[in-house]
Amino acid sequence: MLLQVSNLTTDLPTREGYFRAVDGVSFSVQAGEVYGLLGESGCGKSVTALSLMRLLGPRARASGQVVLEGEDLLQLSEAEMRAARGARIALIPQSPFTALDPAHRIGDQVSEAIRVHDGAAGARRRGLLRCEDRRSVVWRRAVELLAGVGITEPEEAAEHYPHEFSGGMCQRAVIATALAGSPRMLIADEPTTALDVTVQRGIVRLLDRLRRELGLAIVVISHDFALLAEFSDRAAVLYAGHVVERASTETLLRSPLHPYTQALLACVPDLDGQVAPTPIPGNVPPRYDRLAGCRFSERCPHARAECRGEVPKLRTVGPEHSVRCILYDAVE
Ligand SMILES: Nc1ncnc2c1ncn2[C@@H]1O[C@H](COP(=O)(O)OP(=O)(O)O)[C@@H](O)[C@H]1O
Ligand code: SF4
Ligand SMILES: [Mg+2]
Repeated sequence: MLLQVSNLTTDLPTREGYFRAVDGVSFSVQAGEVYGLLGESGCGKSVTALSLMRLLGPRARASGQVVLEGEDLLQLSEAEMRAARGARIALIPQSPFTALDPAHRIGDQVSEAIRVHDGAAGARRRGLLRCEDRRSVVWRRAVELLAGVGITEPEEAAEHYPHEFSGGMCQRAVIATALAGSPRMLIADEPTTALDVTVQRGIVRLLDRLRRELGLAIVVISHDFALLAEFSDRAAVLYAGHVVERASTETLLRSPLHPYTQALLACVPDLDGQVAPTPIPGNVPPRYDRLAGCRFSERCPHARAECRGEVPKLRTVGPEHSVRCILYDAVE
């Protein structure tokens, strides 16, 4: 297993004390696999991603294990984690527009990411090169990376500033920056959400190509079941900080068991436009760590009194299929 996340629990500081935004999340990702994290806005997907990257600031508390290639990232020193970020695991953050610095040319930003990951070996090599040669070597590599993510006329594009790029081009540049350290694992947080539908398809095709050509493993985060359906191999459905169902994407599509997964599927427009999508009434509540029992009970059409007692356990109901709902307690 390339990445094994076990019982990840993240507490965030708020004015009213700590908020447990991620509560015992577990999943694993194989080399070259696309793994989906699915759930509505406010379920804890981005906090999970930022916890894996240890980017939530010094006051956030994360426990559990995030084992990448045999090493628990949560146990690394700050300096070791800084070295791992980008070189072993990289993040494409939720907004492609804010991920780039408006004051610098695209080529400089990709170059900077290359320099950060060049490390000691690079420094030794650089000692042999004159300053302007070094700059041109890094610049050429930046242009190569931009070409590799499908930016046409990359030499010219590298000279541009982010505001001169479309949303899709910005997202491609952010992906180039994430690839600068040659990581084996990429986390893509809502990689297509801010983009037009036609542009979305291009980004999905790009990520899929990178997976095939570079053998990248990708954790793709989305609120869009349809996106994960065509792209991810397996997925975990998150609701209010809990994994409520985990299975192959095919199983989640064909036989979703958790009422929340079923409700998410009902939100997907039918391909032929025959069946109108049904939105789930209500929202994910804030401060969901204060809820008793099943956190979905307020919105669940099958809720009964017992659902508000203890938190249901995540039970194995089939090969690689787990679900957290009392309706399946007898199945195990
Ligand atoms: N830095 C933070 N401090 C406190 N609460 C946060 C912070 N970031 C996110 N949250 C809260 O944690 C919950 C999960 O947020 P998030 O992971 O961003 O959801 P998602 O990415 O699934 O839309 C939400 O209730 C959100 O308001
Ligand atoms: S435990 Fe109860 S409220 Fe929760 S999803 Fe299952 S049936 Fe619905
Ligand atoms: Mg998010």
